[in-house]
Amino acid sequence: MNPLLASKQATVHIRGLGGYLPERVMSNDELAAMVDTSDEWIRSRTGITQRHLVAPDEMTADLACKAGKQALDDAGLIVADLDALVVATTTPDMIFPATASIVQAKLGGQGFPAWDIQAVCSGFVYGLAQLEGMMRAGMFRHVLLIGAESMSRIVDWSDRNTCVLFGDGAGAVVLSIGDDDACGIMRSVLHCDGAYRELLMAKHANRGRPPQSGQSVSMNVDAAGVSAIHMRGNEVFRIAVNKLGEVVTEVLAANAMKKSDIDWLIPHQANIRILHATAKKLHLPLERMVITVDQHANTSSASVPLALNHLYRQGGLKYGQVLLLEAFAGGFAWGANMIRWSRK
Ligand code: UT7
Repeated sequence: MNPLLASKQATVHIRGLGGYLPERVMSNDELAAMVDTSDEWIRSRTGITQRHLVAPDEMTADLACKAGKQALDDAGLIVADLDALVVATTTPDMIFPATASIVQAKLGGQGFPAWDIQAVCSGFVYGLAQLEGMMRAGMFRHVLLIGAESMSRIVDWSDRNTCVLFGDGAGAVVLSIGDDDACGIMRSVLHCDGAYRELLMAKHANRGRPPQSGQSVSMNVDAAGVSAIHMRGNEVFRIAVNKLGEVVTEVLAANAMKKSDIDWLIPHQANIRILHATAKKLHLPLERMVITVDQHANTSSASVPLALNHLYRQGGLKYGQVLLLEAFAGGFAWGANMIRWSRK
């Protein structure tokens, strides 16, 4: 173990933040011209008014690079300072290599470990918990964690049940070991229940089969390569509200804190009605919850870091404030992190 990093007392801090949204904005009205929906339905059932969509040649790694570079600049670091790079994504550029490898190369980095996390919309929350543990154990001093998605590439644009819900974007944080023991990332809690996996899923494009005996190799590829999101929306909604209520209670208990200690709730942005239900359970005034779903729609693993970056850029974060991040995702995978904000 690197002796520089081997401090059991080390705390992990968010040192820099970044975000990126593709230029193209699609309004609800534009969608209503494509499928049988309306601005009124989308606003009232989801809170969404618009979403950003990638350009034809813009990939998840490109979004991730832009958010990651902004976070590095914000932290006052360069890519050579990094000890690891992690991309949380459910829309990787390729099956392999990991999107994190592509981002590392595009940012000009080399040598340090880079890998992807797949926990769908909970990917950033999972990543924060995973990296905090690794950093506390002494493995890394500076890490770039990015949530990046081009959900528009896996949406069935003829399915009004799902196509109105998603958007593209990327959010990033630089995590660094620090010596301010009063602040930093606190305990996280993570969960998964695969029994629910069929309620929200996107079947994968890699449906090739190993060649059977006597079969020609060319028959081994399924050229259709279609992968689209399928969701049983109201069942997901009901379970999401319950599980998010439970996980918030659990993470507060794990950190010996009370509901009233929370300064900011930074939730995954899937549906404004889920956000309102969670805030109600916490007795949290809506002014203390970050809402970006209206502008970004559901950007999956990018939604929590994009919301955090939004709050930061507005000057909303003050030293010592308590932040609660939470997400619920296909899998089902869900979780929450608590952070005491350490930047002055
Ligand atoms: O990020 C991961 C976690 N994801 C979530 O948490 C999403 C959870 N689910 C939801 O946000 C909501 O369930 C939806 C927004 C997806 C749907 O809202 P809902 O209030 O649960 O509506 P519903 O599915 O019960 O559908 C109500 C009606 C149906 O018509 P009928 O059967 O009552 O005639 C749907 O066909 O709304 C119809 N509908 C639409 N109408 C206009 C569904 N989608 C649309 C649409 N435009 N885009």
